[in-house]
Amino acid sequence: MRIGVLTSGGDCPGLNAVIRSVVHRALVDHGDEVIGFRDGWKGLLECDYTKLDLDAVSGILALGGTVLGSSRVRPERLRGGVERVRGHVEELGLDAIIPIGGEGTLKAARLLSDSGLPIVGVPKTIDNDIAATDVTFGFDTAVGVATDALDRLKTTAESHQRVLIVEVMGRHTGWIALHSGMAAGAHAVLVPERPFDVEELAQRVGARFAAGKRSAIVVAAEGAEPRAGSMEFDEGGTDVYGHRRFAGVARQLAVELERRLGKEARPVILGHVQRGGTPTAYDRVLATRFGWHAVEAVHRGEFGMMTALRGTEIVTVPLAEAVSRLKTVPAERYAEAECVV
Ligand code: F6P
Repeated sequence: MRIGVLTSGGDCPGLNAVIRSVVHRALVDHGDEVIGFRDGWKGLLECDYTKLDLDAVSGILALGGTVLGSSRVRPERLRGGVERVRGHVEELGLDAIIPIGGEGTLKAARLLSDSGLPIVGVPKTIDNDIAATDVTFGFDTAVGVATDALDRLKTTAESHQRVLIVEVMGRHTGWIALHSGMAAGAHAVLVPERPFDVEELAQRVGARFAAGKRSAIVVAAEGAEPRAGSMEFDEGGTDVYGHRRFAGVARQLAVELERRLGKEARPVILGHVQRGGTPTAYDRVLATRFGWHAVEAVHRGEFGMMTALRGTEIVTVPLAEAVSRLKTVPAERYAEAECVV
């Protein structure tokens, strides 16, 4: 068989582990050929690819980012490019395409699959918000980075009697905020799923200082928003891909808390540091298993499917299911993080 692989959307620790695993399983165990498209769907649209042999993937297991490069392609460009993609698939003699990506990539994968192209998707995102899989690789690494940062920020906040508002990634869901906040013992966790009341937050943080504590750490997902009317808030706009461009919840909250509490409050934005660098062992294992099972799915002819973790098993689920809804933080999980003082 001849298989094409690509990585699309925001990068994520573990992408290289999937690429390596696909190549190993396909070449060594099945005698297949693998090519990698450069910079995601763009590579497939422009027929820009490289041959992936064992040498090409040697030493990349622990490497962050993606050796194939990644990019975002506007959905309308892909919709208008389906016939072009089909032409390239035929020209290259491809039997299957394995796109590795998040919500946007999997939606595009579904579009191509619905048009009859042989696709097996692999989910990735540090946000962990794809409902069809229990976990996505990259999440464990991002939570580790955020937790390490929070541990470090706690000691400096304590020295200076400050409130630190730490903004972590998470556009629509607060999984990174929830897990890193719990792991580091943050004093408040703000998630997009549950609009916060700034007065309540100020009271909570104020009560800590009144009780003699010297600092407070608030973790806010970038998509967290105040309850309507609770404070003036700049929501930001959208980028060319229709994604929210955030105006900075941490920065805006720092101003508001400092004004209300008379305590120094500083924003800290972790940003892309959460996505960079070497994946954790957990993410390497999950990514490797996804790659292995994606090749198996190709050989079984299970097109229009995506690999997923269910419990400890890797299964395949329809791409249609994968893109149907986001996995949001449920109220009961949020409640577990609220009992901190
Ligand atoms: O979806 C993954 C993610 O890391 C989000 O958490 C974040 O909002 C977004 O990507 C950032 O994307 P970009 O790298 O394009 O700024």
